Amino acid sequence: MCGIVGYIGYKDVKDILLTGLQTLEYRGYDSAGVALFTDKDIVVYKDKGRIEHLRQIVGSEASCTGIGHTRWATHGVPNHVNSHPHQSLDGRFVLVHNGVIENDDELKHKYFVDYKFKSETDTELVVELLSYYVRKYKAVDVALRHLMNRLHGSYALAILDKEDPDVIYIVKNKSPLLIGKGDGFNMVGSDVMAMLKETNEFYELDDLEYAKITKEKIEIYEITGALIERESFSSKLDPNDMEKGTYAHFMLKEIEEQPFVLRRIIDEYKKDEKLYMDEEIINAVRQSDRLYIIAAGTSYHAGLIGKELFEKIAKIPVEVHISSEFVYNTPLMSQKPLFIFISQSGETADSRASLVKIKKMGYQSLAITNVEGSTLYRETNYQLLLHAGPEIAVASTKAYSAQIAVLSILAYLVGDINDFDLRHELSLVANVIETLCDENELFEEIAKKTFTKRNCFYIGRCIDFYVAQEAALKLKEISYIQTEGFASGELKHGTIALIEDDTPVIAVISQENTNLNTRSNIKEVKARGANTVIISLKSLSAEKDQIVIDDVHPLLTPLVTIIPTQLLAYYAALHRDLDIDKPRNLAKSVTVE
Ligand code: F6R
Repeated sequence: MCGIVGYIGYKDVKDILLTGLQTLEYRGYDSAGVALFTDKDIVVYKDKGRIEHLRQIVGSEASCTGIGHTRWATHGVPNHVNSHPHQSLDGRFVLVHNGVIENDDELKHKYFVDYKFKSETDTELVVELLSYYVRKYKAVDVALRHLMNRLHGSYALAILDKEDPDVIYIVKNKSPLLIGKGDGFNMVGSDVMAMLKETNEFYELDDLEYAKITKEKIEIYEITGALIERESFSSKLDPNDMEKGTYAHFMLKEIEEQPFVLRRIIDEYKKDEKLYMDEEIINAVRQSDRLYIIAAGTSYHAGLIGKELFEKIAKIPVEVHISSEFVYNTPLMSQKPLFIFISQSGETADSRASLVKIKKMGYQSLAITNVEGSTLYRETNYQLLLHAGPEIAVASTKAYSAQIAVLSILAYLVGDINDFDLRHELSLVANVIETLCDENELFEEIAKKTFTKRNCFYIGRCIDFYVAQEAALKLKEISYIQTEGFASGELKHGTIALIEDDTPVIAVISQENTNLNTRSNIKEVKARGANTVIISLKSLSAEKDQIVIDDVHPLLTPLVTIIPTQLLAYYAALHRDLDIDKPRNLAKSVTVE
């Protein structure tokens, strides 16, 4: 959601900002804008729509300092006025903002009773309040500190001051913001990807910190005004990973990358040719009497598989919670819980709110995330990386399999298992995924024939039900077909009433103990006119099953049964000519609650 990029230095800033914003497109946005410092003034270009449109409207004035923004609407519809940057009425300050100000109404009533706000955003309040404090205290840094004390909520701000062309100010609370250090220039960005083309040296900003950035200097301050010494870090991301290459869409590229991701995970988590993870993490899990997995969306679905893995392999009871629910409906806790936060981005606001809550209660936590240095990575006690490489398509695919693979290794090491060789089993899984990805034409054909209706069901039992839920999310989010992932045995208790002629029902069958029951449920829907497709493992398959997958270890089946469903979703969206990588209304990194 929303992205920020800024540059101060010696190069023409327009292209740097527009290219940076383009790399942030994956986060989801509906409008975009830039502010450029010229020798006379600050000029702002912004509008609803894509970066390509912004590129067309940006003027030709020379500028080496500027800030840019992609907006995902929260306060007010996407339009020109609500787009960022916003400028104070006196024209002195121009700023971009990620996050949500929770007390904007209160502050508007307190400080700006007679002021007519032009936009519906909370950001306009921020720029006016900053300008008010600067008039009052006559110093920008003092004003910034007052601003931070007054604002409640999440904010990452990048600010230009017309009276000081040599500086970009940034402020952070709860929304991610990084500084990129260059040679003769410096940058700011919501993530490293926005800056990676220019530099690979970064500084983090913690909550309630601000910074003053010139082309030669970076000064980070606490809210008290005390200067902070901070170590820089570099990113392992390869800028080429952010390119589509010959693929039509990032989603297809990322689906096909899954075998490589699994092999990389096996490689990253090994020592002396054996699977290995930090002993401290293994012990923390072993010492807990119950694991609480907290996550959202696809990561929540991976968490459901995680429960199966921990309970079956490591014999530790697990509860899985949707993070936005957990924050406000915290269950009774066991004596020694350990919290596992699963998140591709490491920035999901709902998960972060849950983390804040359990930390206040004094509990320990582990983040399983794809992004080193992300908020969840920094704020948890223990961390495991997914090593999936940047996931650009909004619909998560390779991060989901990476999450399951990392959870399986953790459960395996915690359980100290010797009766099967997980490393070998995961390698077999990688091979099976490769074979499945070669069957594109089959999945394209099935997608064309099957998704002829406005609604659809994925069904399964137990672990296959968890996969059905993820499969349904994938289909609905990119094809806009209303899809439910349903426990097949539960259909007859009400939902079967929705089945009519040609309703697509896709069943997942990967477990011997549920095979026959699920097949009975398929017969029940077929008898009511459903258009059924069966995805089964070879050893359980029947003659007419449309998608048959080579067998893998019974606990690892979600890693292979999910692949056809990802490809079916992809082709369903392709045939509808939809924006596969950037589906409507969605953001990759959901940084608001
Ligand atoms: C769906 C999808 C989302 C995310 C969810 C959590 O394809 O990507 O459901 O899984 O927004 O995001 P992370 O994993 O970044 O916490």
